[in-house]
Amino acid sequence: MNQLQLHCQCHLWKRRTPSGELPDDFARYGSDMASIVGELDIPQLPEFGPDTDRDVRLGALKSAAESSWIARGMFGYNILHYDDVVAFLRDKRWYSAVGLISDMQVVTNEQYKARPRRTSILSADGDEHVRLRRLVAPAFNPRSADRLRPFMAEVMNSLIDPVAEVGSCEFVASICEPYPIPIICELLGAPKEDWKLFSRVASDILRIFNGNIDRDAELIMRAQDDLDEYVRMLIDSRRTQPREDLLTDLIAAEEEGDRLTTDELVTMVEAVIIGGTDTTRNQLGLAISVFARHPDQWSLLAEQPELAPRAVEEVMRYFGAVRATGRYATEDIEYRGVLFPKGTIVFPTMGVANYDESVFPEPETFDIAREPVGQPQLTFGSGIHYCLGASLARAELQVALPLLARRMPNLRLTAEAEFKPATSGIFGVDKLPIAFDAGN
Ligand code: HEM
Repeated sequence: MNQLQLHCQCHLWKRRTPSGELPDDFARYGSDMASIVGELDIPQLPEFGPDTDRDVRLGALKSAAESSWIARGMFGYNILHYDDVVAFLRDKRWYSAVGLISDMQVVTNEQYKARPRRTSILSADGDEHVRLRRLVAPAFNPRSADRLRPFMAEVMNSLIDPVAEVGSCEFVASICEPYPIPIICELLGAPKEDWKLFSRVASDILRIFNGNIDRDAELIMRAQDDLDEYVRMLIDSRRTQPREDLLTDLIAAEEEGDRLTTDELVTMVEAVIIGGTDTTRNQLGLAISVFARHPDQWSLLAEQPELAPRAVEEVMRYFGAVRATGRYATEDIEYRGVLFPKGTIVFPTMGVANYDESVFPEPETFDIAREPVGQPQLTFGSGIHYCLGASLARAELQVALPLLARRMPNLRLTAEAEFKPATSGIFGVDKLPIAFDAGN
């Protein structure tokens, strides 16, 4: 072993019962996470605290990245450089820690704790993940996303129409919140009347990642139940009346005689609804907050809408909605001379890796005409969990941004944007008051 050795007492996997449930006393660890992160025997290991301010936290991580590829945070180790983030995400010995996020919080609500947990594609790993991914991946091909582009433009225009008359709006409520819902519904084949339900349940279920499950438990449980009941109904009706939609494709998905069970179908559809709404709407809000501070780039996009694909990659590099994900070591793993004992938790931090100068020259410059470098921005992740909805999300943003640039010229903020806490699982803007030239 070399001089860098990680001692970690955090053996989360061991603490699971044979049925996969966490033992009752697990929640108490939430109050004392610092003591279970473990120690790395290296004097200059950068550390950062629980700052929830976006600039402070990102600044601390970026300055840590100048001297080190790894830093110690509250809940584990942040991986900061591009090549290392990719290496961790592609190494199949590191399993997704996404399913552990709610376990890391102090939860006293007995009803919530007693709920059986389901493994979704995002939290599954090993053979279970390979099987799910093989079955569902063909349904998420770029062609099915492209088919929806005219519909996306229709939805976006209908949202812009009322505010274009006025020349101002609160962008999050008027445009971001409603935009992805009809698209996910259209993709799945859910009727228009149900858009409101989808929007509510997606936002409420994602409260799991906001760090206060005790406060939100009632809302989360109600949303989970409502969505479960709804999706089962939708699956039943599609089984008897197949259509041209994702749900029908998922029901029909088969490989060598293997099929998704009804429970797996329900979990998959829920993953699409949840993974496909809050991410896209937050990414759109972040995009506009960046463009409002770069008027030259906004005009450029209006003049050259063909730059849309590059603009989307640049916005996601510069200000991504998913800035980190979690992994835990399923065995002792040595990497760059550091031993990460089984159970160690790391956070590949894409939001910092996207500023790695060795991959993206002049990373602090926001430039939508930036030449593609051959290595992608990392906000969709990398490796086996790479975002299944990336084609759809790219299409949604590539349709939305040039349309907005054309119809909202001279875009400006009328008050400071209000951002979510930097620790939010999906980062974004809560309030974005803007003005622009009316009548377009
Ligand atoms: C801008 C929007 C989006 C962003 C930034 C985003 C980001 C991500 C990231 C980073 C991951 C990997 C997480 C990890 O490795 O732990 C992921 C996985 C996933 N995303 Fe997205 N996503 C977006 C949109 C969507 C959409 C529109 C859908 C659905 C249609 C979707 C469905 C999924 C699913 C199902 C997974 C799990 C894949 C797997 O584990 O194999 N996402 N996403």
